Amino acid sequence: MSRKWLITAGAALLAASALAGSATSSPAKHQRAAGGITLGFSQVGSESGWRTANTKSIQSSAKAAGINLKFSDAQQKQENQIAAIRSYIQQHVNVIAFSPVVESGWDAVLNEAKRAGIPVILTDRAVDSKDTSLYKTFIGSDFIKEGEMAGEYLAKAVNGKAKIIELQGTIGSSPANDRQKGFADYIKDHPDMQIIASQSGDFARDKGRQVFETLYQAHPEATALYSHNDEMTMGAIAAMEAAGKVPGKDLIIASIDGTKDAANALSSGKVVVVVECNPKFGPAAFAAVEKYGNGEKIEARLVNTDRVFTKDNVAAYLPEAY
Ligand code: AHR
Repeated sequence: MSRKWLITAGAALLAASALAGSATSSPAKHQRAAGGITLGFSQVGSESGWRTANTKSIQSSAKAAGINLKFSDAQQKQENQIAAIRSYIQQHVNVIAFSPVVESGWDAVLNEAKRAGIPVILTDRAVDSKDTSLYKTFIGSDFIKEGEMAGEYLAKAVNGKAKIIELQGTIGSSPANDRQKGFADYIKDHPDMQIIASQSGDFARDKGRQVFETLYQAHPEATALYSHNDEMTMGAIAAMEAAGKVPGKDLIIASIDGTKDAANALSSGKVVVVVECNPKFGPAAFAAVEKYGNGEKIEARLVNTDRVFTKDNVAAYLPEAY
């Protein structure tokens, strides 16, 4: 184990002991921490195919890197994530990583981790903390760019003219905020492209189906759908078909992620574009953890590379779709 990790584990122990005011943290606990790198990871939940693929990538990469992974599923609740992080602090893990369900409200628990000397890495989603010293790096996609790309490809497909229903992701989450902004900014220059209704489907298939059904009933003039993720897109497609509409003809659809279901929907012409949000960044995340542990400098922001899939290139993508 590197010297840096030993120092970190020691600092965590000292800080925790000092905070507790007594020897609740035994040297034995420290010995266990020093036996290998232990990382506590708090996942958002299992709301989508994307999330399942991301969890698998994190778990298999931890195994490959020889890191002892403590994993918890927050079931899309911020309070569960805060409790998990506090528990990881109490357990004196060497590093904490988490994918914050929403952007706001993390400063208190991140300060607790900082005081305990435990480095924090953000994965997938951002926090809006002003104090960027509360985490070492943020690894994830550029969600604003994803929204812009969805806008660009949708604009091409509809010749700059569309009445759009937008299905947003989880309210207050960075992908929902940024994908909304990126798309809205892009279509500003296309006056005949208007968002006529916009509501959250919480990144989930059935919620997406229900919300789309309601919005479409209220806005039968809609000609396009912009959905913040594939899971909600598949729900909306089910709602369109139940209403006797033809996805890809009656409504032109732009989606984000790159699940197998969405790739198949691209192949069959139901969806016109899927902007990739790559979930398989476990190897890059653990490379950053190792680098930090070895005392090397890591970038404050590590941006994942995302592609754009259309009918023209989806066949080559399908074998790796999840
Ligand atoms: O934060 C990434 C987003 O979260 C993915 O686009 C979505 O599918 C997931 O629920």
